[in-house]
Amino acid sequence: MTFERVLVAGAGQMGAGIAQVVATSGRQVKLLDPWPGALERGLESIAASLGKLAEKGGPEPGAVLARITPVHGLEPAELLIEAIVEERAAKEALFREADELLPETAVLASNTSSLSITSLAAVTSRPGRVIGMHFFNPVPVLELVEVIRGLQTSDETARSIVELALDLGKVPAEARDFPGFVSNRILMPFVNEAAYALMEGVADAEAIDMIAKLGFAHPLGPLALADLIGLDTCVAIMEVLHEGLGNPKYAPCPLLRQYVAAGRLGRKSGLGFFDYH
Ligand code: CAA
Repeated sequence: MTFERVLVAGAGQMGAGIAQVVATSGRQVKLLDPWPGALERGLESIAASLGKLAEKGGPEPGAVLARITPVHGLEPAELLIEAIVEERAAKEALFREADELLPETAVLASNTSSLSITSLAAVTSRPGRVIGMHFFNPVPVLELVEVIRGLQTSDETARSIVELALDLGKVPAEARDFPGFVSNRILMPFVNEAAYALMEGVADAEAIDMIAKLGFAHPLGPLALADLIGLDTCVAIMEVLHEGLGNPKYAPCPLLRQYVAAGRLGRKSGLGFFDYH
């Protein structure tokens, strides 16, 4: 399977980045988002990213953009990569619909950061062809793709997705289907603990991030990283870890919840731990 026609669902920062790297590999991409304005914003961010890459010898932006067709509903494809909101019910509804509309040979992949691939597969009639394909933000820059096999994912599906990741210029790493997989099992408690340190007044936000940047050589501190990911997504991932692993150490920090309740979602809302206005 080489997946020449790919449907990417969700034109937010992850979906747009995924559409960009798939189109850059020469494949035809349909980018789906029913929200008014989302496709336009997604295409603008792809054009901006391609512009930066072109300055450094990347592909001609017009040629890549010409391979991305915006669509408002599901369309036939050999591969669906889902990158919609991190909510189980929304993803299950999309997978049910895709299972009915896409050819039975199509693979349904999810970019979920933490939700069970096995459960998503269970709402379809093709659990062998359902898999996790977890990209990292910013997708055009970061090399990793975490490949997550559900309990029933076939060897052939896993092999074809690993090959696709390599063909996109990414480095695949396989993880088993446990809450948060490997990446967010490690990253999100780090982010959550930084929020606790802020809430408890151990240090201010600048100092917390400075310690991670200069002390651990992280490109971004945990609070700025949370702002990049989206604080609502961080809370959603901690809830999956908390519920799925049953350990109180994974409880989302109350300060994170409070910021989300106030609409302080990070970069996308202009305000999170830091101000982006
Ligand atoms: N497209 C193309 N190029 C981009 C880009 C994009 N979207 N974003 C940044 N770049 C380029 C810049 O143009 C710049 O290029 P030059 O060095 O040639 O000038 C380079 O990347 C570095 O960017 P900046 O100078 O603007 O800033 P930076 O050095 O801080 O790098 C960063 C930005 C790449 C985001 C870096 O801070 C970084 O890697 N941060 C960590 C991000 C991270 O941990 N992401 C994982 C989040 S977890 C996740 O996504 C999954 C999940 O499940 C939650």
